[in-house]
Amino acid sequence: MSEYVKFEFDGQLYEFPIITGTEGEKAIDIAALRKKTGLITLDPGFVNTGSCESQITFMDGEKGVLRYRGISIEELAEHSTFVETSYLLMNGELPTLEELTNIRVQLNDQSLVHEDMQIFFQNFPRGASPMGILSAMVNALRSFYPELTHTEEAINKTLLRLLSKIRTMAAMSYKISRGHKVVYPRADLTYCANFLNMMFDNPVNPYEIDKDVVKALNVFWILHADHEQNCSTAAVRVVGSGRVNVYAAISAGIAALWGPLHGGANIAVFEMLSEIAKNGGDVKYAVEKAKDRDDPFRLMGFGHRVYKTYDPRAKIMKEMVDTVLPKLNIEDPLLDIAKKLEEVALKDEYFIDHNLYPNVDFYSGIFLRALGIPVNMFTVMFAIGRLPGWIAQWRESMDDPHWKLNRPRQIYIGPKQRKYIPMDKR
Ligand code: CMC
Repeated sequence: MSEYVKFEFDGQLYEFPIITGTEGEKAIDIAALRKKTGLITLDPGFVNTGSCESQITFMDGEKGVLRYRGISIEELAEHSTFVETSYLLMNGELPTLEELTNIRVQLNDQSLVHEDMQIFFQNFPRGASPMGILSAMVNALRSFYPELTHTEEAINKTLLRLLSKIRTMAAMSYKISRGHKVVYPRADLTYCANFLNMMFDNPVNPYEIDKDVVKALNVFWILHADHEQNCSTAAVRVVGSGRVNVYAAISAGIAALWGPLHGGANIAVFEMLSEIAKNGGDVKYAVEKAKDRDDPFRLMGFGHRVYKTYDPRAKIMKEMVDTVLPKLNIEDPLLDIAKKLEEVALKDEYFIDHNLYPNVDFYSGIFLRALGIPVNMFTVMFAIGRLPGWIAQWRESMDDPHWKLNRPRQIYIGPKQRKYIPMDKR
């Protein structure tokens, strides 16, 4: 039975349909609101606005649930690989063995980056942010590898090319930034092992691939692979809605992820924990500062637009940190500070009242540091992980029968019409 909401405006009664999702979430379809009533909706930050119907990711922020294509993040982290999860996100189903083998072969085939692209990398100034470089290089891919759009197979080729090359470009930019020789991808290695090898292998100390580290990196990237309509994904969809090429849409997503309130939070957490350590480890001071309304400081790695309970990704990340660090014989003093900070914050009334819990970024920097990833690459690691989600969401938006150019409206609050004043009269 169809459901409606009724509302009265200017003495007239209007009805708008209710849309119900598979998990029972409800929304009012207000697409015809302006046509019928002359009104628009105003929702700064899209706090309460659904921009699309999607089959990709389900989140229940109150219960701390995250599922990709219906499968829980906990199950995927335990059993899947990043490549398999990417396939699931991009295609809707888990791959058969044959499909998985096929995608692995294609990822290997596509893993090299045009040698001329290295010239770009070489010419970015030393100290340039790897996120800026990555965003620019992904955009530049369009000039080297035309986007293929004529058949389903051709589109898949473009998307897999992106998924494969992003890790080569990330590792390449790291090597070049250090003045080291670039390490090329190897066909005998899996996606994650290949990345680690390209990052850390060198002629003096050949990199030894450790299967536990490879597994942990798989989990890290699975945890980041999609998160429905977050800031960067919304950017990919909005930019993509202008029918721009896919490289440009993804490049916009990378730029959006860069910010400290979004993916850049993993660097901000690291800086915050280091600052606390420098000041003698006083976590209570940080908590008090975060509560002070006159102070713009926030506890980085805490809080989330959707989760009003513990972020399920943060739970897995914390467990992973607790197993990977001892395995690698690493004692990170920042881990103790992070745990103390979490303990104090979770008991604090302000944090309880505001439903503020650790998010995925709270422990992720500690994990990445243990793997040897430099701090300025933390957000790049997030970006590689989020790529399959961006691709899946871009694809879904392109195939959406309700597709429209994304173009929000506004309420104008500037001056009313007035006359131009000539310079000599101002
Ligand atoms: N520390 C202190 N207070 C906070 C925090 C925090 N980390 N986060 C939110 N609040 C308070 C905020 O001051 C406000 O208080 P009041 O209502 O009394 O004025 C209230 O909680 C609601 O905040 P908001 O900014 O309206 O909430 P939001 O949904 O827009 O914020 C957020 C979400 C992630 C931007 C915010 O929690 C934040 O800035 N967190 C720190 C940055 C961070 O860790 N970002 C990573 C997010 S997870 C990774 C990703 O997906 O990008």
